[in-house]
Amino acid sequence: MPKKGPIGFFDSGYGGLTVLSEVRELLPEYDYLYLGDNARAPYGTRSFDVVYEYTWQCVKRLFEEGCELVILACNTASAKALRSIQQKELLDYPGKRVLGVIRPSAESVGMFSKSNEIVVLATQGTVQSESYVLEFQKYSPELKVHQYACPMWVPLVESGEYKTEEGRSIIRRDIQNIKKSFPNADVYLLGCTHYPILQNIIKEFSGSDDLIISQGPIVAESLKKYLSRHSWLVKRLSTKSTVNYLTTEEHSVFESSVNEIFGLNLKARTIKIN
Ligand code: DGL
Repeated sequence: MPKKGPIGFFDSGYGGLTVLSEVRELLPEYDYLYLGDNARAPYGTRSFDVVYEYTWQCVKRLFEEGCELVILACNTASAKALRSIQQKELLDYPGKRVLGVIRPSAESVGMFSKSNEIVVLATQGTVQSESYVLEFQKYSPELKVHQYACPMWVPLVESGEYKTEEGRSIIRRDIQNIKKSFPNADVYLLGCTHYPILQNIIKEFSGSDDLIISQGPIVAESLKKYLSRHSWLVKRLSTKSTVNYLTTEEHSVFESSVNEIFGLNLKARTIKIN
């Protein structure tokens, strides 16, 4: 009998919870273990090497905690670390799998645009990596893909300042710039898992006709399909419908922020990563 473990979810902070909640809705039977590297967030402005190092440390930690499958519920980590982890690091971990969030999004979002023009809103790191541009070329080569970096949005979420007047005006300024720069785009892909937390504010400042797409439901569907094709891996996933949370931040800070953002009254464990 293979050893069974939870599905690991990793993000630099709170953003991955927007993906985890959709995955749990669609696949409630599995156990989940979330790791937020809140103490070192944001990742979006960090160098390639640092994002890679931090991400791989966290994935290894999730492996040590018994995860056989880990989802990088973070675009910046998916853009900068996923491929090397899959092609290099996993050679030493046969049977373990690590998946990202960029490919599933690029596979399915193109068809939503009537004008055939979309904007990917993401961190500086994701934009600079050009990962979305490259992935969209494979799946929707005729689609015009614009990118726009919102470097302040993750810090606004992590600090809770997105609710203040100053925070709101930063978001409003970015939306105005996006609308001015890309007037024909009718779909905004939230290419950072933190951004759905700002969804209501983004909607308020953008036109009502624009389609704002979050990745959670897309990643959930894609994971469901992946598991249906990998029955050997499903045998290694435990199914007691539990969810546990790890953070590199003081756990009481994590707990009260998650409660504030998501209305979830959860308990977390503080861990040290190095
Ligand atoms: N949620 C991460 C993402 O999807 C945020 C990265 C950051 O910490 O800047 O890109």
